[in-house]
Amino acid sequence: MTEPPVLPTATYAVTGATGHLGRLAVDALLRRGVPARNVFALVRDPGRADDLAALGVGVREADYDRPETLGPALEGIERLLLVSSPTAGNRIEQHSNVIRAADAADVGLVVYTSILHADETQNALAPEHAATEDVLQGSGLPFAVARNGWYVENYTGRLDEYLSRGEIVGAAGDGRVSAATRADFAEAAVSLLTGDIADQQGYWELGGEAFSMADLAKTISEVTGQEVVYRDLPPEELTDSLRAAGMDEDTAGFVTALELSTARGELETDSPALENLLGRAPTSLADAVRAARL
Ligand SMILES: NC(=O)c1ccc[n+]([C@@H]2O[C@H](COP(=O)([O-])OP(=O)(O)OC[C@H]3O[C@@H](n4cnc5c(N)ncnc54)[C@H](OP(=O)(O)O)[C@@H]3O)[C@@H](O)[C@H]2O)c1
Repeated sequence: MTEPPVLPTATYAVTGATGHLGRLAVDALLRRGVPARNVFALVRDPGRADDLAALGVGVREADYDRPETLGPALEGIERLLLVSSPTAGNRIEQHSNVIRAADAADVGLVVYTSILHADETQNALAPEHAATEDVLQGSGLPFAVARNGWYVENYTGRLDEYLSRGEIVGAAGDGRVSAATRADFAEAAVSLLTGDIADQQGYWELGGEAFSMADLAKTISEVTGQEVVYRDLPPEELTDSLRAAGMDEDTAGFVTALELSTARGELETDSPALENLLGRAPTSLADAVRAARL
């Protein structure tokens, strides 16, 4: 596996480090040989970061909603991974707070986790990512945008449900999803973070092997030996069935809208960037399903 050179003397920070992706990025930095003393885990609640502190990395409070925490958190940081906030609705302000603080702290590179095709997709989650990308570009800071596809865990996390129902129900039609594991996206983000800044700047469309929901059902059947099929519903029927299962109206509409985004092909990319950044093929869907079975 070819890995880009690492700057061991640079100081790195990762936001959302108590979350799934952030934690994996901290692990990936250490695996790449960056000394723990040069790695800073930025967290909303340092009281929940004992396992990070045990790795020897610095733990600093950094709350996107509390700008007064962000300046001290970014002091002396040369390269920052800004993991997008999970709070849809507040994200432009939250991310802007971090970017402003990064500018004030003279951070030399910001890597931001966005969404595939952020500037052209109709996906309901994209406008806040696209606006953040604009803020980043307007800041004048050197930046790289990791436009991540869907996490494969969005599906493998529901494996038990699929197996017990014997079906995957959606409205994605034949739409394909270039999903990849969080671990692969984290490793790719770290590759952008640690590489040569001139080479890494810009927008990276990142995704793994593309599969349809029928392909997903087939792979699950093959890996588990239990038959699972994909049942495609008209969008209104999907929304009604989600509501009948207890989901509130807004969430049911939102979930259906994401299915339609998949149907339009907006979660698919043929870009080889993820594989190139990893220096290997991304984890296959079959291997991800196998890992979720363990
Ligand atoms: N590509 C996809 O399929 C997909 C799916 C879901 C989400 N996402 C996006 O990718 C991001 C990372 O994914 P993930 O799986 O790592 O999500 P996650 O496990 O929910 O982690 C999100 C992190 O954001 C932190 N956070 C929330 N509010 C914050 C605030 N006000 N200030 C600072 N930190 C805050 C959380 O802190 P605590 O640990 O204190 O809660 C957590 O560490 C998500 O936030 C979301 O934007 C992508």
